[in-house]
Amino acid sequence: MAILLPGGAGYIGSHTAIELLEAGKEIIILDNFSNSNPQILEHIKTITKKDFKFYEMNYLDQAKLEKVFEENNIEAVINFAGYKAVGESVAKPIEYYHNNVSGALILLEVMKKYNCKKFVFSSSATVYGEPERIPLKEDCRTGGTTNPYGTTKLFIEQILKDIYQSDDTWDICILRYFNPVGAHKSGLIGEEPQGIPNNLMPYIVRVANGQLKELSVFGDDYNTPDGTGVRDYIHVVDLAKGHLKALEKLDHEEKGIYIYNLGTGIGYSVLDMVKAFEKVTGRKVAYKIAPRRAGDIATCYADPQKAKEELGWEATKTLEDMCQDSWRYIANQLKDESNM
Ligand code: UFG
Repeated sequence: MAILLPGGAGYIGSHTAIELLEAGKEIIILDNFSNSNPQILEHIKTITKKDFKFYEMNYLDQAKLEKVFEENNIEAVINFAGYKAVGESVAKPIEYYHNNVSGALILLEVMKKYNCKKFVFSSSATVYGEPERIPLKEDCRTGGTTNPYGTTKLFIEQILKDIYQSDDTWDICILRYFNPVGAHKSGLIGEEPQGIPNNLMPYIVRVANGQLKELSVFGDDYNTPDGTGVRDYIHVVDLAKGHLKALEKLDHEEKGIYIYNLGTGIGYSVLDMVKAFEKVTGRKVAYKIAPRRAGDIATCYADPQKAKEELGWEATKTLEDMCQDSWRYIANQLKDESNM
């Protein structure tokens, strides 16, 4: 019995693939390398010393997807095949709704046809919109997303609730990620945004290594301790382990639809991140204060208690680990490039 990972060559998918393989699970990855590359698969094999089946395909290709289900005995699906760039989603709403929402619908339809009804969905703290209260609990109000990316997450959550309502033999876990950062300790896999990064940590790393001149800190007049935005940064390996716990829950508990925040419960500001990164790596991160970024909120961090109680999961890695591992990955990449 295998676990299918559409988008398993991407940032969070590849880290989860490693955790699953290391826990002795059989996995199958589908990916079209739209935001990754074939080398990642080799790195997963090197790290785990395990093999797995791979299909190079778009998960929207229903005929091919059905073939994957015909050829394999798939017990559960964890869907990582979503597009995730907030700014790009504003410029390309059709592509985002199509890839994320139509893709999820096709996947769920095929799963239903093959009677595979265990589904773990990568959602996001973005579904909370402007937070009703901090820390965010799973029962906080959702909605009011400010970009198509966030709205696709909200729509898919609703679709999953409606599916479960119609047929309670489904077993669904929605994981609301906070801000994933860091990389595998091997330095072989990590986050590889194409072009200039939008997210804070990839930007900091590229300023530290001289690829970018300085960080723009988007606003220093928020109602936060130092005026800059506060977020719940979570190490991607902790996040990956959360998926294993979610699968265990679906295996052992009554069928249901479950929702969990995956965050640390600690909020760090932009300047906290800059300082921590400088301290850990000994590199300077030049920055300037810039105007607020449209759509940003002041503070967003999780109450992770529900995941702790019901999944037996909690984040264990520190901010230092997050900085160190992000830096090690990029330093490795640069070494590879200079050896070419
Ligand atoms: N920031 C800067 N300068 C930058 C980039 C970011 O100051 O160059 C600040 C932002 O203003 C914010 C913080 O750093 O205060 C974090 O910004 P990110 O872009 O790294 O992350 P966001 O919290 O905006 O968004 C992330 C993911 C989304 C997800 C959301 C969930 O990118 O996919 O978390 O809350 F939906």
